Amino acid sequence: MHIGDYKAYISEETMMGPSSARILAELLDKYPLHLAPDDWILDLGCGTGLTSLIIAKETGAKIFANDLWVSAEENRKRFAEWGVAEQITPICEDASNLHLHFEKKQFRVLLSIDAYHYFAGSKGFFQEKILPFMKDDGVALIGIPGVKEQYADRAQELLSDWLGEDTYMFKSPKHWKELMGSSDRIDSVETWEMDCFGKAWDDWLATNNQFARGDRKYFEAIIKPYTCFVGIYIKLRKAL
Ligand SMILES: C[S@@+](CC[C@H](N)C(=O)[O-])C[C@H]1O[C@@H](n2cnc3c(N)ncnc32)[C@H](O)[C@@H]1O
Repeated sequence: MHIGDYKAYISEETMMGPSSARILAELLDKYPLHLAPDDWILDLGCGTGLTSLIIAKETGAKIFANDLWVSAEENRKRFAEWGVAEQITPICEDASNLHLHFEKKQFRVLLSIDAYHYFAGSKGFFQEKILPFMKDDGVALIGIPGVKEQYADRAQELLSDWLGEDTYMFKSPKHWKELMGSSDRIDSVETWEMDCFGKAWDDWLATNNQFARGDRKYFEAIIKPYTCFVGIYIKLRKAL
């Protein structure tokens, strides 16, 4: 994907942290998707729906765009303005209780950018809450902030001045691989430190968002030396 194609949509109003477009671009470059118009994608913790828009345009598939803090009405309005209301269905719901709207084995792709760490950091979450809704042969593409592998045991000591009580959400790539666990439906799980870290942060810190202004104070001393973006790719087995 070419980030430049989405310049008109990426703004202080739609960004909620380090560039979700750059994180998504790295995931799609590494693991390209080839979907049909009747395939479904679940974008969990979609925020203002920027990633939902991009993945809709890149794949042509249909999207459920779920978020907790941003209302379905607000996202519906934005999707209509962006001309993708037919393709993207907004939902406002807690991701840890996702049974209401979806059918079993509905989704070819689970996407979650800068959100999965808020609600899914316990072992067995993927198997219990997500897997039943995933199609055989489906994939999960996840990008979240975490702690670099070499500081995995020191997150509390090193990050808490910046993150306070949210520090526990920051885990290393190896830790996320353990948390994802296994299942007879899971073929493989890959986790890694993402390359887009610098550019994703540069884009965010260049905005005048109040949270970006707060992050700016900690970037050189904490964020840059100790944290990373953790990429997670899960490939499910084909049907038996
Ligand atoms: C930092 S924002 C990122 C939003 C968007 N994915 C992006 O990258 O721009 C984190 C998002 O996670 C969502 N979130 C946090 N806890 C959630 C939960 N329990 N269920 C659904 N979404 C949740 C919030 O509503 C918020 O929009």
